[in-house]
Amino acid sequence: MCGIVGYVGPRDARDVVLEGLRRLEYRGYDSAGIAVLADGELSAEKKAGKLANLEKVLAERPLPEAGTGIGHTRWATHGGPTDRNAHPHLSADGTVAVIHNGIIENFAPLRSECEAGGVEFRSETDTEVAAHLLAATYRETPEGPGRLAEAMRRVCRRLEGAFTLVASHADEPDTLVAARRSSPLVVGVGDGEYFLGSDVAAFIAHTREARELGQDQVVEIDRTRGLTVTTFDGAPVEPVAYTVDWDAAAAEKGGYDWFMLKEIAEQPRAIADTLLGRLGEQGQLVLDEVRLSDQDLRDVDKVFVVACGTAYHAGLIAKYAIEHWTRIPVEVELASEFRYRDPVLDRSTLVVVISQSGETMDTLMALRHAKDQKARVLAICNANGSTIPRESDAVLYTHAGPEVAVASTKGFLTQLVACYLVGLFLAQVRGIKYADEVGSVVDQLRRLPEAVEQVLGGMDAVRELARSLAGEGTILFLGRHVGFPVALEGALKLKELAYIHAEGFAAGELKHGSIAVIDQGTPVICIAPARLSPLHGKVVSNIQEVRARGARTIVIAEEGDEDVVPYADHLVRVPPTPTLLSPVVTTVPLQVFACEVADTRGYDVDQPRNLAKSVTVE
Ligand code: M6R
Repeated sequence: MCGIVGYVGPRDARDVVLEGLRRLEYRGYDSAGIAVLADGELSAEKKAGKLANLEKVLAERPLPEAGTGIGHTRWATHGGPTDRNAHPHLSADGTVAVIHNGIIENFAPLRSECEAGGVEFRSETDTEVAAHLLAATYRETPEGPGRLAEAMRRVCRRLEGAFTLVASHADEPDTLVAARRSSPLVVGVGDGEYFLGSDVAAFIAHTREARELGQDQVVEIDRTRGLTVTTFDGAPVEPVAYTVDWDAAAAEKGGYDWFMLKEIAEQPRAIADTLLGRLGEQGQLVLDEVRLSDQDLRDVDKVFVVACGTAYHAGLIAKYAIEHWTRIPVEVELASEFRYRDPVLDRSTLVVVISQSGETMDTLMALRHAKDQKARVLAICNANGSTIPRESDAVLYTHAGPEVAVASTKGFLTQLVACYLVGLFLAQVRGIKYADEVGSVVDQLRRLPEAVEQVLGGMDAVRELARSLAGEGTILFLGRHVGFPVALEGALKLKELAYIHAEGFAAGELKHGSIAVIDQGTPVICIAPARLSPLHGKVVSNIQEVRARGARTIVIAEEGDEDVVPYADHLVRVPPTPTLLSPVVTTVPLQVFACEVADTRGYDVDQPRNLAKSVTVE
């Protein structure tokens, strides 16, 4: 939530910052702002709404050319999405400009303190206190190199909550200082230039060399002194260097109307990349990155899968596979709930946290809650260098590449694949499955990219159907077994993109109450299990039940399944896929459907209202 960009170097900071903001806009689009430092003076512009609004203002009132600049794209927390609440916030004396991601929880007493000192606040944000405190603290900090960084450390020691702060001071034209606690921040290192970003997309057009920052650290980037990192207490830190394994082209739309469409189309490649190098010659799995010993994995007596939103749906599917393959009990929980109850965990509990961004605050807090109780934590994550894998005991990266659209698509399918790998790996290490059994599932996994490609090839009818249903007020989704989380995911996609009331139901549960909402013509999208599944007949009955009450049924069924034909007003065919892996193919039509409904309704598919890509507040 909120995108942060900073630049110090020989280029025109205005261009670098605006380009960074364009790439980070998916992190929040309630407002955007920029500040540059030229000739010892800070100048800023900020505007409510999307970045385009700010760009319009800048075209009329350009800021001066400068070598130092910061920019922000906001997802509002404290204070509505107005011009005044947009970042950057300047101190009362105009010497400090600050941008912020996160929440300063003790901002109220700090604000009172500033007001008692005569400061008049211009916004309702928690952020503004940081600007005033920093200006005052800077005045009290001895002169010399690193003065702004020292002032930042002193301020940070007083702040509570989660925050990334970036500050520029009028007296330090070649310097930016940033701090992070539980919110994301990475540093980009170019040739004589430095970048700051909420994620590497902010500077990927200029450099792929990045530095990870840890918790409670302050970084100074200075054109002559270079990069200096310390803890909040001033102890020097050597940041971890890494090279980003994708380039700027991967973060472009590549000819598609929406990032979401491009990301849906990339799914076969993303799945193949996630499997790459993890399947051994003899069918065995090779997960060298999972830094847990075989003994640790053999000791596991319970698995918790913890995540949010779409990643949580991946976790729900993982439960079926992991329990089936390993016979270890698996609980799946929303991170925001897990974190505030008392789950029973110990050293032999494996907690699998799933997060595309690696920055979701609810998931991060759940991870810490698990580690406090000595559980082993394995992260499934897409964003290299992000906080969640860094704080976990082990990590399995999905290789989806950058996911820019707010709605997760390739992130989800690759999370599923990673969950299957974890389940199979546990079964392999614990000797529950013979090598040939693991090998046969591995073969099935290898066929998934082609199966998804096949589904994508037949989506014209789904798009047409979506256009015909775009005016509906309610659309329901039904599924059973692994089809149930798929139904939940289909409903979530439709809600978040098309703002249509949608619900996913367990097909067998409907008759216990919810079937009462079915009315004449209510569209119900039903996910039929594989023909050979023992549940197939049951779901066909459930489809008949809703149809008997007037529902218009859209059935997603595998090729050759003739049993569903009499009960389907519309049929969407997918290639036959083994039951546990079937969500990888049955989800795809639902993604395409939601995207097309939203597009038909004239909505911004990539940036739905009220949302942001990485949810970095609790
Ligand atoms: O980055 P994460 O995977 O931790 O994000 C979790 C959810 O916020 C995310 O999946 C969200 O539900 C998506 N917008 C759904 O499309």
